[in-house]
Amino acid sequence: MAMLKIEGPCRLEGETCVQGAKNSTLPLLASSVLCRGISVFHHCPRLLDVETSIEILEHLGCRVCWEGETLTVDSTDVTHWDIPDHLMRKMRSSIVFLGAILSRMGQASLSYPGGCELGPRPIDLHLDAMRKMGVQIREAHGRIDCNVRRGLRGTVLHLSFPSVGATENSLLTAVMADGITTIHNAAREPEIQDLSDYLNDCGADIRGAGESTIIVKGVKSLRGCAHTIIPDRIVASTLLSAAAITGGTVQLRRVEPNHLQPVLHVLEEAGCHLTLGKHEVALTAPPRLNAVQTVRTMPYPGFPTDAQSPMMAMLLKSNGTTLFEENIFESRFKHVDELIRLGGDIQVVGRAAVVKGVEKLYGARVVAPDLRGGAALVIGGLASEGTTEVLGVDYLDRGYEHLETVLSSLGANIQRVENDDAQNQQKTG
Ligand code: EPZ
Repeated sequence: MAMLKIEGPCRLEGETCVQGAKNSTLPLLASSVLCRGISVFHHCPRLLDVETSIEILEHLGCRVCWEGETLTVDSTDVTHWDIPDHLMRKMRSSIVFLGAILSRMGQASLSYPGGCELGPRPIDLHLDAMRKMGVQIREAHGRIDCNVRRGLRGTVLHLSFPSVGATENSLLTAVMADGITTIHNAAREPEIQDLSDYLNDCGADIRGAGESTIIVKGVKSLRGCAHTIIPDRIVASTLLSAAAITGGTVQLRRVEPNHLQPVLHVLEEAGCHLTLGKHEVALTAPPRLNAVQTVRTMPYPGFPTDAQSPMMAMLLKSNGTTLFEENIFESRFKHVDELIRLGGDIQVVGRAAVVKGVEKLYGARVVAPDLRGGAALVIGGLASEGTTEVLGVDYLDRGYEHLETVLSSLGANIQRVENDDAQNQQKTG
């Protein structure tokens, strides 16, 4: 098992490019199954979850190839409509293949998705929407078997929660359905807009993506097209948080500042100076951050739940007390115990976490509980006195492309320790 070894404290300085968005790439790759042709995705991040999506695409009959940051998917001949259980279990977004396979093949067979343990992650909103569009769904023995005997038909959908995945699956089920589908209370995340832009370039007719009501007019077929994936706003938030806690000066290139507004607001409240360009964000942090009144996670355009743990780590040494409220997932504070091992002063009460700033943090061995929790531990390690070992790097590799390389380029003393060294170190305790 690999780990990241960090010598702190350090001060991050310099500039770096932000990778393509994981949470855009995954639904985009799933949606390429809809197209009878070749799709080319530029700015595609090399992540474990992307590799899993490629395995699913190839299992379905697609041909996929990399060329630098460009991934080409030829989905001319899709021959299968099932996804093996071991692939479904690797990530949450495997469920978004359901809508695409159904629209293309008229049937689908898969098991329940995996993904980070953030509390219950039901798919009832996904399946309800599909049933309303004419999908027969049988859930038994851990499998979900779907078929569309009388074709997919447009309808009016009301999501009880603006679920990102359910909005994506509803779009993929509706794009070639017969008639018009209206999705009320749709998720407004930038990744939904990115997916809609790609599908419309493939010949779909989707209006209103990015707003709460989306209208989809079913079309007969979709062709492949080229698409540049939007920058990853959560990776950008993570890097800005890392720069902020180290009192650093960092410039991010290839970002969309307007996707980062709620995060930029917290950074400014914490005392950072920000300069925004068209596709750049420059940050200069004070020697010690101010605590922030309250960080409340909400659906977009509210503060993103995925940035909650990185920014909690950022505020561990701040001057004062910050209240975090996690309103999206039931159990997204698994990183707290690990941050306390670094010397953080955090108290969790239900969906709230109270972070009291301390003067110093101290390096320790910590274990990533999930993808963004792992990022939080790295951020804490950068500002800790001495050596921090972050185990469970596989989580990080699901969403961050070479995180240690990016941080090293900004001045961090961080290295990846592979295999038995990490295992031995873990054994010696
Ligand atoms: C997407 O997950 C992201 N993942 C998550 O990022 C992100 O945290 C989340 O949206 C919220 O922004 C991808 O895009 C691959 P939801 P998703 O459906 O679609 C409940 C990361 O770190 N819900 O918006 O699974 C659900 O339990 C990951 O990159 C239902 O009750 O999120 C949760 O409480 C973590 N029934 C809330 O809605 C459903 O059918 C939000 O879930 C679906 C969801």
